[in-house]
Amino acid sequence: MNRSIIQKTKGVPATDGAGVKLTRIIASPELDMVDPLLLLDRFESDKPQDYIAGFPTHPHRGFETVTYMLAGRMRHKDSAGNEGVIESGGVQWMTAAKGILHSEMPEQEDGLLRGFQLWINLPATNKFDEPKYQEFSADEMPLENLETGGTVRVISGKTDGGTTGPVVNTLTEPLYLDISLGSQESFRQPLPQSQNGVIYVIEGDLTLEGTFLESEELGVLGRGETVSVMAGLQGARLLLMSGRRLDEPVARGGPFVMNTKAEILDAFADLRAGRFG
Ligand code: FE2
Repeated sequence: MNRSIIQKTKGVPATDGAGVKLTRIIASPELDMVDPLLLLDRFESDKPQDYIAGFPTHPHRGFETVTYMLAGRMRHKDSAGNEGVIESGGVQWMTAAKGILHSEMPEQEDGLLRGFQLWINLPATNKFDEPKYQEFSADEMPLENLETGGTVRVISGKTDGGTTGPVVNTLTEPLYLDISLGSQESFRQPLPQSQNGVIYVIEGDLTLEGTFLESEELGVLGRGETVSVMAGLQGARLLLMSGRRLDEPVARGGPFVMNTKAEILDAFADLRAGRFG
């Protein structure tokens, strides 16, 4: 059965870090979460005052952050001594797990900064794993040419055509695809019942099982085994993101996502006591 769209949202304006303007698409009043997808932010601006203050040192615990840059550069540094720059088209997949302190700062002083940050929950049994990073530049992620026209950049998971992304993740088996379709081209992808997923339209528009999604709109996928989309006359660029449903209690507290309120209080206590990083 093809999945249909059960909810649509364009997100809400928000600020985070030291005042970075962004659009919060998941973790908003309209859409709390799509288990295990906890949060999705889109940042896009060519005005330095919207982003230059960046995200100075802050902690995370209990989940993964996935930063996908479409334009611009972001420098990250953490308490374990890791440092690097995510370039345009690159991805940083950080499994924060038991906790890190890091900063994420725009490397540029002007020009367009555009990208997404997705938070993916970790199973309760993995929330205290050691932190780790997986980082790949645009040319390290395979680009599949679809037989029906269009291309798919594979960040994680495996396409119907057999292309596998470089990110290894056996915890929630996430799929993260960046799909570009020409006018009225279609794309089809199996997505097992165990997974929840969303589609975000970056440019153009598309139809999925009779539901229209316009540019900068997110659709939450209902239950089913496959996803089948058709681009509109102008074509479409879309993200397909999914992960295995955890069905565990979720307690949020700022930069921490645990299973109970007590664990959130522990995280703040650990932060105050300097036990991060
Ligand atoms: Fe962060």
